[in-house]
Amino acid sequence: MRRALIAGNWKMNGAGDAAAALLQVVAKAEPGAADLVVCPPFTALSEAQRLLCGTFVQWGAQNVYPAPSGAYTGEISPAMLTALGCRWCICGHSERRQLLGETDGFVGQKVRAVLDAGMTPILCVGETAGERQDGRTASVVEREVEKGLTEVAADEAARLVIAYEPIWAIGAGQAATAEEAEEACGWLRECVFRLFGRAAADGVRILYGGSVGSGNIASFLAMPDIDGALIGGASLRADEFISIYNTAKA
Ligand code: 13P
Repeated sequence: MRRALIAGNWKMNGAGDAAAALLQVVAKAEPGAADLVVCPPFTALSEAQRLLCGTFVQWGAQNVYPAPSGAYTGEISPAMLTALGCRWCICGHSERRQLLGETDGFVGQKVRAVLDAGMTPILCVGETAGERQDGRTASVVEREVEKGLTEVAADEAARLVIAYEPIWAIGAGQAATAEEAEEACGWLRECVFRLFGRAAADGVRILYGGSVGSGNIASFLAMPDIDGALIGGASLRADEFISIYNTAKA
């Protein structure tokens, strides 16, 4: 039985006092049968550590550079994240793939670096609207998972998190239907099975992301291959985020 996971991706939001205000509400969530994770920007991670330490809520980063240290101006290493108490790191979000040119191979290096640092990667995959129209959804997300996990061992794969985030549903106000999301998450679980075997496929947690809110979260969680959600916009509204989490833990 996989434990539900609700993770918030703040993206480039939460400057100054806004981060603390949001974290203070999230810190009051009641523990239950689901995990709750927030991924604020790097600049708010020490605030997350200060305000969430001692609660059941965990925090993580939205990105990392896959090297231990060195001449990588502007980048953040895995050890810098673990020093701030991060236990999670998003890898390969479509915004980074599209806007910053992250390749499948580079994302794979990040997944490896995150695991080596003892954190859990949340590997994001998803197709564009055009790829879906062309019937290429399965091949795109399977390629992203295969390349993202090339350096991962079978026993590690069971502990991973994969987020299926169709690009056309992100920030669109119109989510995929639960059936569309389930179909893709099923392909992803099948793909993990092919690559790593039954234990990994049964253990890996697969999230849906893209315009999730308190009004549609239950429909996704009702699906057998969907283990939770990666939330963007709604994670910035404390009450809405907690309401999503409360549905998941119920
Ligand atoms: P929205 O929930 O704002 O659609 O964003 C989803 C997302 O990209 C989470 O990583």
